[in-house]
Parts: sequence; C-alpha cells; structure tokens
Amino acid sequence: MEGRLIILGLAIVLSLATIPANCGYYSKTLPNVYKKERITKLHFFLFDILSGTKPTAVEVARANFAKGDKSPTPFSTVMAIDDPLREGPETTSKVVGNAQGLYVSSSSEPGTLGLVMYVDFGFTTGKFNGSSFTVVSRNPVTEGDRELAVVGGRGKFRLARGFAKLTTSYLNVTNGDAVIEYNVTLIHH
Ligand SMILES: *[C@@H]1O[C@H](CO)[C@@H](O)[C@H](O)[C@H]1NC(C)=O
Ligand SMILES: *[C@@H]1O[C@H](CO)[C@@H](O)[C@H](O)[C@H]1NC(C)=O
Ligand SMILES: *[C@@H]1O[C@H](CO)[C@@H](O)[C@H](O)[C@H]1NC(C)=O
Repeated sequence: MEGRLIILGLAIVLSLATIPANCGYYSKTLPNVYKKERITKLHFFLFDILSGTKPTAVEVARANFAKGDKSPTPFSTVMAIDDPLREGPETTSKVVGNAQGLYVSSSSEPGTLGLVMYVDFGFTTGKFNGSSFTVVSRNPVTEGDRELAVVGGRGKFRLARGFAKLTTSYLNVTNGDAVIEYNVTLIHH
C-alpha cells in the first residue's frame, strides 16, 4: 500500500513537472500548415545606375588600397542600391518594383568582377504589389549567364525559395551602369 502511494506521488510530481509546456517563449510544436506550395515565374530588367546626378547605386565604402582605382567597383567596394525594376530593357519601360540593399565587390582576381548581393526585390504594381523576395548570393558578373539564390520572401512570397537566371543586357564598363535581365523562379506559399 505504502509502495503504491509513493509511486502515485512520483507520478503526480513527474506529470506536474511536464505541464508548463505552453509558458515562456515557445508554443507547442504543431504540424506545418504551410504545406501547399506554388511556383511563380517573374521576368524584369534591373537598372543599376552609378553615373549622373541621380544614381540608383552609390558607393558607401572601399578599402584604402582601392582608393586610386578608376574602375567603378574594384574589390572591397560596398554599394547601397535602390534600383528600379522595369518590364523591358528601355529606360522608358514601366517600373514594376525596386531592388534595395547592398552588394559588395568580392572578387580579388584581377580582370574579374564578382559581387555578393544582399538585396530585397520588392514590387509596387500588379498582383505582387507589396510583396518581395530576398537574394543572398554570389553574382559572378564577368561569367555572362549566371544564377542567384533566392532565400526568402514577404507577403505573397512568404517562405519563398528559388533561383534567378541573369544576363547582362547593357553594360558600360567605364562608369559601371548596367541593365540586367532577370528570370526568377520562386517556390512560395
Ligand atoms: C500598391 O500598394 C500600395 C500600398 O498598399 C498602394 O498605395 C498603391 O496604390 C498600390 N499600387 C498599385 C499600382 O496597385
Ligand atoms: C528569360 O526568359 C525569356 C523567355 O521566357 C528568354 O527569352 C530569355 O532569354 C530569358 N533570359 C534569361 C536571362 O534567362
Ligand atoms: C560610358 O560611360 C562613359 C563615362 O561616363 C561615357 O563617357 C560614355 O559615353 C558611356 N558610353 C556609352 C555607350 O553610353
């Protein structure tokens, strides 16, 4: 009888110890409701303009050794961008969004231009107005056709992942102005 009571007592103490699962900083772990995923493809042109009185990409830092370098984005240059995204490659083409963030010139190899991008691509018109996707990726510019990793998204692109295929549509190597064609494939909720 006494042994039984001790076991019952132990059982109560143990069950009390496991009760506060819902307090504090976490919820109960539940099955994933974001199971249904869809695919959306996007096509647009990014205008990265370094020249003139209204640049969309501005230098915020570079290493001392690159101070005298005349190329637009030598190794170590950090650029802040607010680049318009347009439907077509012409400067008069309709703006559908903007790409905001940073890129860093990350290739120390002479004669190459390699960037790492930390950029949020947001849309300001149509079905995806207010939604954005996020790129954190290498962009080996001198390789011609290239691919970026999409690591997340907001709004209609919540939980996005995917990739972007890029080609340079226009590049002025003297001042760094560029128009880049993007074909993006997004898997999202
Ligand atoms: C996009 O969304 C913003 C904020 O909700 C709104 O002010 C704007 O009118 C929308 N633009 C278009 C073209 O739908
Ligand atoms: C993007 O897709 C269009 C047609 O869907 C194609 O003409 C173009 O070459 C592609 N561009 C890139 C950069 O993949
Ligand atoms: C490229 O940029 C340089 C320097 O700003 C300018 O003089 C030249 O006209 C540009 N080339 C083209 C094709 O726009």
